[in-house]
Amino acid sequence: MGDNRPIGIFDSGVGGLTVVKSLLEKLPQESFIYFGDTAHVPYGSKSEQELMRYAREIIAFLLDQDVKAIIVACGTHSSITLPRISEQYDIPLLGVVKAAASCAVKTTHNGKIGVVATRATVNSRAYTGEIQRLDSSLKVYETACPQFVPLVEAGKLEEEETREAVSEYLQPLLDLGIDSLVLGCTHYPFLTKVISDFTGEGIEVIDPSCKTVDQAIDIFSRQDLFNQQDQACFRKFYVSGNDESFYNVGRLLIGDTIKEVHKVRISKA
Ligand code: DGL
Repeated sequence: MGDNRPIGIFDSGVGGLTVVKSLLEKLPQESFIYFGDTAHVPYGSKSEQELMRYAREIIAFLLDQDVKAIIVACGTHSSITLPRISEQYDIPLLGVVKAAASCAVKTTHNGKIGVVATRATVNSRAYTGEIQRLDSSLKVYETACPQFVPLVEAGKLEEEETREAVSEYLQPLLDLGIDSLVLGCTHYPFLTKVISDFTGEGIEVIDPSCKTVDQAIDIFSRQDLFNQQDQACFRKFYVSGNDESFYNVGRLLIGDTIKEVHKVRISKA
């Protein structure tokens, strides 16, 4: 039987494309609809109330497109809104926090885990809660990196200012002796090269996107949701704000999977 409907994916901007990259590798036969909420990027500085409104509007939009599941490809929504709303929908909704936490728990040897994420995510302590739920003996140090999202949205992946920001945010975590670093915002894996150059070989850098797609695979096999039809699948990209920058930077990040970007207005406010 299976299910040939698309998967819905969303983030504030290009960050969720890290999850798209993993999806293309692991589930190339699946159609998907990506929504980048570029009218509201960055999410890291938004209030819980604002984030709740955005989440509900985006999910309503994706449900209107008849998606079979939604991947919340955003650390901020996965930390703050997803735990409050996931039970309210009758399709699977999955985020990146659980995937990252289970990876970090398996990776660390010395029990000291660093998490870099947006300010809203760090304030929620969602990563610490999830990691310590799995192993309460672990120490978790969370740091907000507000410069990273604007740098990635501008396509500045290896510039000098990016290296400076990486050093400013990560040195204090290295001083604390972490051996694993969770990239707790989906934009950050696009900075992996600069981050790994800075942290060196002794630190495992964890990108939750791959594990998140593994969780989707698990749910799809349990609920018979894989696309089993031979017809060509489709990939659509929508944004709420700047479409040109999403197109240009998005193609820089994941190539010509992005053929066109549609600007839509979904907000009732
Ligand atoms: N990529 C998102 C996250 O993982 C949103 C970042 C932002 O817009 O501040 O948190």
